[in-house]
Amino acid sequence: MSHHLITFSDVCFSYPDGTQVLKGVSFQIHHGEKVALVGANGAGKSTLINLLSGFYQPSSGYIALGDIKVTPATIETVRRTIGFTFQNPDDQLFMPTVFDDVAFGLVNMGVEGEDLERQVMSALRRVGVEHLAERPPYRLSGGQKRSVALAGILVMEPSVLVLDEPSNALDPQARENLLEQLTAFTHSQLIATHDLDLVLDICDRVIVLSQGEVLSNATPAETFSNLELLQASSLGLPLKMQGKKI
Ligand SMILES: Nc1ncnc2c1ncn2[C@@H]1O[C@H](COP(=O)(O)OP(=O)(O)OP(=O)(O)O)[C@@H](O)[C@H]1O
Ligand SMILES: [Mg+2]
Repeated sequence: MSHHLITFSDVCFSYPDGTQVLKGVSFQIHHGEKVALVGANGAGKSTLINLLSGFYQPSSGYIALGDIKVTPATIETVRRTIGFTFQNPDDQLFMPTVFDDVAFGLVNMGVEGEDLERQVMSALRRVGVEHLAERPPYRLSGGQKRSVALAGILVMEPSVLVLDEPSNALDPQARENLLEQLTAFTHSQLIATHDLDLVLDICDRVIVLSQGEVLSNATPAETFSNLELLQASSLGLPLKMQGKKI
């Protein structure tokens, strides 16, 4: 089986308070594809990612990684295979120092000593935050926290990346580091984002979610040339396509 194939099949989901969010969402992500998930605030992007991470269960339909259905019984395998970052980095940083946070998963796998030091510092360097290694994560800025959270998943060498608004709050240099890391990562990626230039620059395909339904699933070129679709889903054009520099 391919650990890199993600399937959503007719997924519906309502929160416990009755808010119906996903209404029959179906799509697949194949090995090596970088897929953007875009849509208005409240469209259901983070909810969809939280379902994939097993935080919630679909009300109906199913989600699968390869031929493994995502259920409470398989969630450990799913989380070992997919590296997740969530919309709020505070949900993922909990150790006393940045180094310990990024080291956490490796330590659980029995990595220690010089190997641990080398792998953690290399991951921090890749996202440009090695100087923060000894800082407590809760005292970092929003963008710094986001970069540290990304280092914490890259260090585990996941087979798939699922990222919720990874470029949010990043300064231009940190955003450039992020784009380099995502470009270099050759396995499947699902990226929920409002950063349409990131979509244009690195994604192969764009899923447009509108009020919990997939309105479109097409290439960036097709998506951004469909003005009716952009208007219907509260999207605009990437700055690059508006003739502006970013
Ligand atoms: N815990 C919750 N209980 C009830 N409703 C919720 C809960 N969390 C989110 N919602 C609702 O679910 C809908 C989808 O929210 P979600 O966070 O998935 O949107 P999103 O597409 O990620 O938006 P954004 O672009 O603002 O991050 C919204 O209407 C939101 O109000
Ligand atoms: Mg969200």
